[in-house]
Amino acid sequence: MTEAVPQKTCQKLWGGRFAEDVDPDFHNLNKSIDIDKRMYAEDIQGSIAYARALCRAKLLSLEETQKIDTAFKQVLAEWDNGEFIINHEDEDIHSANERRLSELIGDVAKKLHTGRSRNDQTVTDTKLWLRKSIDKLSFRLKTFIEVLVTRAEQDIDILMPGYTHMQRAQPVRWSHWLLSYAWYAKEDLERLLEVRKRVNILPLGSGAIAGNPFPIDRSFLAIELGFDKITENSMHTVGDRDFVAEFLFWSSLSSVHLSRFCEDLIIYNTQEFNFIQFADKYSTGSSLMPQKHNPDCMELIRGKTGTILGKCVGFMTTLKGIPSTYNKDLQEDKETIFHTYDILYQMYHIAEKALATLKINRNSCKNALTSDMLATDMAYYLVRKGIPFRQSHHLVGEAVALAESKGVPLSELTVPQLKTIRYNQVFLEIKVLLRKNILILKYGYFSEVFEESISSIWDFNLSVDQYTTVGGTSFKAVQQQINSLRFWLRKLSFKK
Ligand code: ARG
Repeated sequence: MTEAVPQKTCQKLWGGRFAEDVDPDFHNLNKSIDIDKRMYAEDIQGSIAYARALCRAKLLSLEETQKIDTAFKQVLAEWDNGEFIINHEDEDIHSANERRLSELIGDVAKKLHTGRSRNDQTVTDTKLWLRKSIDKLSFRLKTFIEVLVTRAEQDIDILMPGYTHMQRAQPVRWSHWLLSYAWYAKEDLERLLEVRKRVNILPLGSGAIAGNPFPIDRSFLAIELGFDKITENSMHTVGDRDFVAEFLFWSSLSSVHLSRFCEDLIIYNTQEFNFIQFADKYSTGSSLMPQKHNPDCMELIRGKTGTILGKCVGFMTTLKGIPSTYNKDLQEDKETIFHTYDILYQMYHIAEKALATLKINRNSCKNALTSDMLATDMAYYLVRKGIPFRQSHHLVGEAVALAESKGVPLSELTVPQLKTIRYNQVFLEIKVLLRKNILILKYGYFSEVFEESISSIWDFNLSVDQYTTVGGTSFKAVQQQINSLRFWLRKLSFKK
């Protein structure tokens, strides 16, 4: 007597060995279609290429390949037009597309997955999607840098206090400050293009873990899908999400730069500073205080940076405990990169628009400059008279203290007052040995160091323009930065 075969009820792609269907609550946890449907076009693109590779390997006839190709174009159109109906059984975008393909062309569709696994399929789709998204982000970064450079050129004559420790340090050009962020963004873009190189390596053809046993031409697949290289270890390929981690770290670092940029602007926008004002269209008011004009555009960017950092840490935490090759934990990658990309794209877009439209109050910037910020210039005045810098620094420190004790700005100290600060020049030092002790005798004289000519240093424009070395804040050096950034920008071509 033969044993009764249990009735199989599970209709999933993998349902053959299952006697019962999955618990609906587990199905809800397991399914990723609501998230990964965003890669529908990439999934179709990958499948069409795979069908062509199967055809070259003689596993599909030309006619069958043609059928798959045509049907997939219809599936693509259904997605594009919002007509694709997601079935309750569709676990992810891969199963949904294949199910629809079967509905359209029947059994031919069942040959498509020959030698392929969702393990190599999902990485392929993710890489195709990320590559496209990196290109869009590159365009945003480039545009952001262009706005920084354009504004820097327009307002190159505006001077403002430069800060260290949030204390007035030295006068700088507003453009010098602006361009400091252009350099961050330039390096961010260069780093992103590095990440892109590792994204653009073809995973397809790795199967579930061991590779592909059919004569699938992976070089052909790479060309079809625009990948630069092919992965060289199938176990590594299906378990590797370093390209995701790299993108998340890149997003974290570049959003930290944006966040610092926004923080500066939020401070410059306070009534206390009043250096800049944001356009109404990027500001919000208060439902209670009628006078408010809040820089929410900047605060949101600063705030969302925290979310992006969290995504990076979250995914790294997901990765850390996973044994080698594919494990379902990796399914978390999609939501993480989609969310990170969406936020970051918006952040760059808004940063760029808010910057392009903000108003700079040149008088407030100028009025914020105070003569104590030229204390370093005063020290350089003494250096030029032959006094070593350390002593010059000390003597000017005395002048600062004197001005403070008199309650006047540094530049208001009179020359007679300044002449009370004297330099103790040692010109003779005699060491006398007295039993076991050494007696040191120093002969010297005190000289006045400040003269009438000190008045020449109280000019902020002259001060700024002495920093002519590459990277300085002089007109010439800032113009040089603009030229060099423009030269670099001209070599880039990214599409929206
Ligand atoms: N939805 C899955 C993911 O994104 C596809 C891979 C599923 N593979 C598997 N062996 N269950 O990771």
